[in-house]
This record gives sequence, C-alpha cells and structure tokens, in this order.
Amino acid sequence: MSGGVLHVCGARPNFMKVAPIWRALAERTHLPQTLVHTGQHYDARMSQVFFDELGLPAPDLSLGVGSGSHAEQTAKVMVALERVLERRRPALVSVVGDVNSTLAAALVAAKAQIPLAHVEAGLRSFDRGMPEEVNRVVVDRLAALLLTPSGDADENLRREGARPEQIHRVGNVMVDTLRANLAAAQARPVLRDLALAPKGYAVCTLHRPANVDDPKMLGRILRGLAAVQRALPVVFPAHPRTRKVLDGLGALLAELPGLRLCEPMGYLDFLGLTSQARLVLTDSGGLQEETTALGVPCLTLRENTERPITVALGTNVLVGRDPERIAREALAAIEGRGKRGTVPQGWDGRAGVRVAEIYAGFLRAER
Ligand code: UD1
Repeated sequence: MSGGVLHVCGARPNFMKVAPIWRALAERTHLPQTLVHTGQHYDARMSQVFFDELGLPAPDLSLGVGSGSHAEQTAKVMVALERVLERRRPALVSVVGDVNSTLAAALVAAKAQIPLAHVEAGLRSFDRGMPEEVNRVVVDRLAALLLTPSGDADENLRREGARPEQIHRVGNVMVDTLRANLAAAQARPVLRDLALAPKGYAVCTLHRPANVDDPKMLGRILRGLAAVQRALPVVFPAHPRTRKVLDGLGALLAELPGLRLCEPMGYLDFLGLTSQARLVLTDSGGLQEETTALGVPCLTLRENTERPITVALGTNVLVGRDPERIAREALAAIEGRGKRGTVPQGWDGRAGVRVAEIYAGFLRAER
C-alpha cells in the first residue's frame, strides 16, 4: 500500500477506540486502510476477544512484541514498525490513547515524516509519574492532527503551543463503541452466570502500576473494599499484572469472601456487567468515561485523573487510596447517594464519523 491510513493498536483499551474509526473510514471514504497490531497485549482475553466482538478485521500485520520493560517494549515496536512504514508509506498514521505502542508509533511516524493523527489527544493528569502521561505529552507534541474528546483537552493543547487548526474536538470514540454494543452486552447471560441481580453488585478493576505492583498498596486498597463486599458482591476481573500480586495476598483475600475474583472479561460481558452495576470502583481511565456515559456511579482509586470532565460533569468521584474514604464513598453510593451526572457533549456515538471526515479532509488538502 502507498497512501491511505495506517492504524496502530496494541493494548486492550486501544481496540474499542480503533473500531469506530475503522468502520467510519470504510463506510464513508475510499481510503485504503491498514491495521497493525503491535502485540503489546497478546492473551486471548486481552486482545483476540475484542477483535471478535467489535467486528474489527484481523490485523494486516502483527508485530508480536509482547511484554517487557518500557524501553524494551517501546523499542521493539519502533524497530518493527519502522520497516512497515518504509514498505507501505501510508499517507497518515493514526494512533489512539496513551499506551507504549501509541508512543512508539508516534516516534517512528515522526522520523519517517509521515503525518500523525492522535485520537484522544490533550488529556493530562499532570502526573509524570504515570507512564501514560509521558506518552501523552510526547505523542501530542509530534501529531499533526489532534483529535480531542473534551474542552479541557483542547485547552491543555493550546497551552502547550498546539496551533488551533491542529485541534479538532470530535468527542469520545470509545462511547461510539459503547453505544453500538450496549443492547448486545445487556443481552449476554453474564449476570445470570454470576448469580447477580441488576444493581445488586459492584464491579472493581485495578491495574495501575502505582496501585498494584506493591503488595502493601494493593492490600491497603483491598482493605477499603472490606465494607463494600459485606454490603454487596464485588466482581473483580483481574488484569494479569494484578493477578501476579494477588497470588501473594491469599490470607487477605480469604477475609473478603464477597470479593469475587475472576479472569479478565471480553468487551460485551464486561459492558453488560458494568452497565447494570450499582457502583464501579476502578483505576482505569476508560472506565471513568464509560461509567459517565452509562450514568453509573464511579469511584476512581487514584489521586488524579486525566479525564476531569468525568468528575466535573459525569458520575466520577476521585477518592484516592485511603481505605476509610473508599469505604465511606462506596457505602454512600450503595445507599443511593452516588454521584449523578450528565453526559458530555459529543459523547454521542458519532465521534468515529467526525474523525473519518477530518482524516479525509486532511488527506485531500495534502494531495
Ligand atoms: C497497559 C498500558 C496502560 C493500559 C493497560 C490496559 C502502557 C504503559 N500501559 O498497561 O496504559 O491502561 O495496558 O490493560 O502501555 N500481560 C499478560 N498478558 C497480556 C498482556 C500483559 O500477561 O496479554 C502481563 C505481563 O506480565 C506484562 C504485564 O501484564 O508484563 C503488563 O503489561 P503491559 O502491556 O506492559 O502493561 P499494562 O499494565 O497492561
């Protein structure tokens, strides 16, 4: 291929963002598309299930980089992708989110002098201790097209010197995927299989290195869940990173019989589960947005968020990692005093279409 759009994805939260962009480009433009999977995530439950459920085509190329330190993972993607870009010479490289694959692709595209588009640009936690924050800042600096989900993102980019014509507020592509799949997700038998009633349980996910890599910190957060799991079952699909540390916390877990650990879920089962939950407790970025789109109360177990609009307008409350605060806020939500919110503008199921129009216009102007 020469010309067209080359998408790079690699980790679980990328797949639901690429799907609506891919579809809108296929339906509305004649642009050739190439899908590259870096292989950052490779377990079937972390990757293949999303392709199957979201109607994404099989990747044209799989780089198979796998896990490693930040430098190893980023470098492996860079080396493999450089060869791909040399061969294929796309007219535009499209990246989403803030994972290491996103950063690696941005660096390679910039050096190959191929224009880069970043979807989900401008989000900032202002915490450089988070690897994703480093990735976000660098990727946005290199991108020609900055496609943002919210006004705070536009403002961050302007402050960092982006030109106004680079910034395009498209809304939230992940919400496109959520809306397109909500009915199918709620038709899944996941609640029945887990013997849960709608609004009769909470969902917890944790995978941030700052929360899960140190068993003391993870134990502290789990203690915050003690009162919650006494009030109602807490379903906890554990990321592989978290599972490794939980394996050493057996004694503590034995004291929490209402905490129901399970394997990571596919997209549809997990959306079926979260959309009918009484409450979600998480350190995920994407889930903060999904709960706001769903109107489900969310407690974010972090000190900061790169998605402040979910706090300002949505159902999200930043509660940190103090066990007493976690328990207090969770019980309030369980008693029906959870945060109510509104859905931000542009989180309307049409963000992918807006991205496709911007890509097509950009490439017409480049010719
Ligand atoms: C990555 C992203 C993070 C995102 C998260 C979603 C970066 C810096 N972080 O974090 O922003 O929120 O994905 O899941 O890119 N592992 C498996 N199987 C897999 C993938 C990973 O067992 O399919 C295990 C490996 O032990 C690996 C560890 O999980 O070392 C961490 O994986 P990695 O991709 O490095 O980071 P995540 O924590 O998943």
